[in-house]
This record gives sequence, C-alpha cells and structure tokens, in this order.
Amino acid sequence: MKIIMPDFVLPSVAEQTCALLETCDFVTINSEGQLSGEIAGAEVFMLPWQLAPEMLQTILALPTLRWVHTMSAGVDHALNALRDQEGLLITNASGVFDIPIAETVLGYMLAIVKRFPEFLTQQQARQWQLLRLRELRGLTVGIVGLGSIGQEIAQRCQALGMRVYATRRHAERGAAHVDVLLSNEALPELLAASDFVVLAVPLTAETTGLIGAAELQQMSADAWLINIARGAVVDEAALIAALQSGEIGGAALDVFATEPLPPDSALWTLPNVIITPHNAWSTPHARDRQAQLFLDNLSRYLENQPLRNVIDLQRGY
Ligand code: GLV
Repeated sequence: MKIIMPDFVLPSVAEQTCALLETCDFVTINSEGQLSGEIAGAEVFMLPWQLAPEMLQTILALPTLRWVHTMSAGVDHALNALRDQEGLLITNASGVFDIPIAETVLGYMLAIVKRFPEFLTQQQARQWQLLRLRELRGLTVGIVGLGSIGQEIAQRCQALGMRVYATRRHAERGAAHVDVLLSNEALPELLAASDFVVLAVPLTAETTGLIGAAELQQMSADAWLINIARGAVVDEAALIAALQSGEIGGAALDVFATEPLPPDSALWTLPNVIITPHNAWSTPHARDRQAQLFLDNLSRYLENQPLRNVIDLQRGY
C-alpha cells in the first residue's frame, strides 16, 4: 500500500505501519511541500496543516486515493478541496489536542483573574503594588460548542468550582460536567450568563461570523471572550470595537481572521487582550497521539471496520 504523509510523522509510524501491511511504500512531503517520490498509486494520505492548495488538489485527484486523514482537528482549511472529490473516506485528528487546548484555556482564565499580565508589567518596572484578584470558583464559563475539546474544558472548569454553561447541536443528548446545557439557538442565554465565553466550535458555514456586534453586546461588560476555535468564528472588526469601547472585559485569542496576525492589527496594542500565536495545541505528546490514532484507524481500515473521527462533509466536521 502506498501512503503519502508528512516527513516528520514517518519515524513515529513507519515500523508499526509496515507490520500491518504486506507491502508498505511511503512518499513523504516536507515542510516546503516537496515530495520524496512518485505519488501515483497512493491509497492513503495523511494531510498536514495548510498544505499548498495546488499540491492538495494534485494528491486528492489521484484515482487510487481512498482515505485522507487530516493532522488537524479542524478540516475547514481543506473542506472545499475535499468536497470536490467524491467517495473519499475522511478522518480528522479530533482528540489529539483536547488536553493542551483545555489547559491553555484554564491558563488564560487564571491569568485573567490573577492578573498575571499586569504583574509582569509591574515586574518589568520593579514596581511593588498589590492588585485586587478574583477566584475562578463561582464564576461562570460558557462553552460554545461541546465537542471533544469543549468537554475537556468543561471537566476542568467544573473541577475548579465554576458554573458551566454550554451549547451543542444536540442538547437533548446531554453532557457530563455541564450545569446548563443549551441548544445552539439559546446562545444569547449563554452569552448573558458567562464571565468567560469560550469558543470551541468547528469553522463551518453555520459558525462563520457566529460572534458579531450583537452577540458581543449580549455579553456582560466585564466578561472575557476566549477563542481557541478559528478566527473567522468572530467578526474581528466588531470584536476590536467592543474591546476599545469597554463593551466586554477583554479577549484571550489563539486564532485570528488572518494568521500570522498582521503587525498593524489593533489587537496587538489593546491592553485587555492576550494573544497566543495559534499555539494552544502544542504538547510533547502530540506526535504519539497522532501516531496511535492513525495506526488504530489503519487497522480498522484494513479490516473494513468503521474508522474513528469520520468527517461528514455536509456538516463540515
Ligand atoms: C488546529 O487548529 C487544528 O485544527 O488541529
């Protein structure tokens, strides 16, 4: 079987992949998008984050291709190209990044109530000045999108004594670690109740621009918006206006409409903004978790069993 995968993944899966297959033939892609060999005849493709569109099209057009596994949890970056190819089995890396992202969200919340950014500024000026701090215990978090990342966030927030609101598409299915579970239509209720609104939805046609001027107005004046989803879930111009006018307390953002965030973005200069460079996923365990997921799915694929994390192209995640 011929498999196309990023060169940095190969060492963690090569031996076990070959143990599962009669013949294993790898073609790797490096960070410049260069291939190590002939892709004709490839059946499986492990798709790296933000591959050049021309290369993506070329690989997806291979008539022998059957299964595409994305190394990202979100498939939005490749959705249109994937939709053009009928009959492909598509899986994503859902689950791989839940823990580091949930911990980053906790980090933002603790930094906000314990005012670490201001203490760091004081430290640079050798300034000894006490500040009034808050507790997370008793505050309300509203998680928009209770997928596998959202659930990991909910569990940690509840463990800290926070009140957890969440929206999900099928609220009737219930959820652990959530005090108030709402349908997507009840988003205004979540926005009004939350001290922290955490965006954890996939980017789809439905969630593009989900948080605009009207939604920001529904948040309370000292509430913070946390976005670890995709920049396009938020109307960034409306967010900047809300931050500048004090309509919301602040924003902790890992994702942006344009990445890298352009140097002239007003977000860089606002005091009530914490910026991380699409980095919340980072963990020393990512490679092992990716490898385990891929190898488990490869076994299932070879045995004609249902795969984990299959993407529904109509739904977009
Ligand atoms: C990264 O943002 C991912 O979708 O995995």
